[in-house]
Amino acid sequence: MTVISIANQKGGVGKTATAINLSSAIAERGRRVLLIDLDPQGNATISLGFNRREVFISIYEVLIEGMSARSAIFPTIVDNLWILPANENMPGAEVELFDIPSRAQILKNAIDEVKYSYDYIFIDCPPSLGILTLNALTASDSLLVTMQAEFLALEGLTQLLKTVNIVREQLNPELGIIGVLFTMYDSRTRLTREVEDEVRRFFEGGTKVFNTVIPRTVRLAEAPSHGLPITLYAPTSNGAEAYRDLASEVIDATETRTGKGIESPYPGTGRDSNGDSAGRTEPWNLGQGNPCIEDIPESPPAA
Ligand SMILES: Nc1ncnc2c1ncn2[C@@H]1O[C@H](COP(=O)(O)OP(=O)(O)O)[C@@H](O)[C@H]1O
Ligand SMILES: [Mg+2]
Repeated sequence: MTVISIANQKGGVGKTATAINLSSAIAERGRRVLLIDLDPQGNATISLGFNRREVFISIYEVLIEGMSARSAIFPTIVDNLWILPANENMPGAEVELFDIPSRAQILKNAIDEVKYSYDYIFIDCPPSLGILTLNALTASDSLLVTMQAEFLALEGLTQLLKTVNIVREQLNPELGIIGVLFTMYDSRTRLTREVEDEVRRFFEGGTKVFNTVIPRTVRLAEAPSHGLPITLYAPTSNGAEAYRDLASEVIDATETRTGKGIESPYPGTGRDSNGDSAGRTEPWNLGQGNPCIEDIPESPPAA
């Protein structure tokens, strides 16, 4: 199994879109996937059709009140995809975490009990480098950075890479970078192509820049308001195909690697090293106290 944080301290660079659509595209390939919504805005939760007000046990209760991660996991409308959602308490989390000793390790400890039930865990990070993102990076095997090909794109990355180095030194020496992903890509503009070239040159021989780029499309912008990932909302669209291509790159990068990454000798089965499925999180024993997705009206989710 592998835990991947999707992060960039800038907002609006496609983190949440990637968290949802990449998770769904990997789930479509038969892997068991858990998406953790760590952003107080709860956009991933809302975009998968959940009403945050109806989520009684969320990542907030796990981080702050010590509820088990297992009790906060829901099945989603996508086969093989589960979510650990955010609810309306979450905006308080950043402040409340300050009172907790070893506060950067809380998420890591919380997901230890569930992580071997999944092949992939993705964490959708808030647009900051605060304590929530530090928790995500501490809990992760690797980081996926989303970025837009725009002027000064590299400036923001430098700060993020510094944070990665601090996390490696102090919290999680194993943290890798699985890759940098261009989102909202518009190949018609010269600036986009120039920035892309610059970023690829900058990382040449080092950090991977995914070959797949995610185009800017209306379908990708619309899907969240229908509570669906692009793979269900517009399954044959360019956006869906792009996220499937990205899924292939991520699967290749994690499942062929030895050491970091997929540690279960039975990838895709959700079984642990004993071949034992005990303790895996099944849809039918999930989310006690939480409404199931079926309980939630089909109308576009309230923000
Ligand atoms: N490839 C894309 N094409 C068009 N719109 C997109 C695309 N990716 C994301 N969006 C939209 O852009 C906005 C910001 O994206 P989002 O994924 O929420 O960014 P972040 O999580 O980094 O803040 C959202 O309204 C989202 O629906
Ligand atoms: Mg977001």
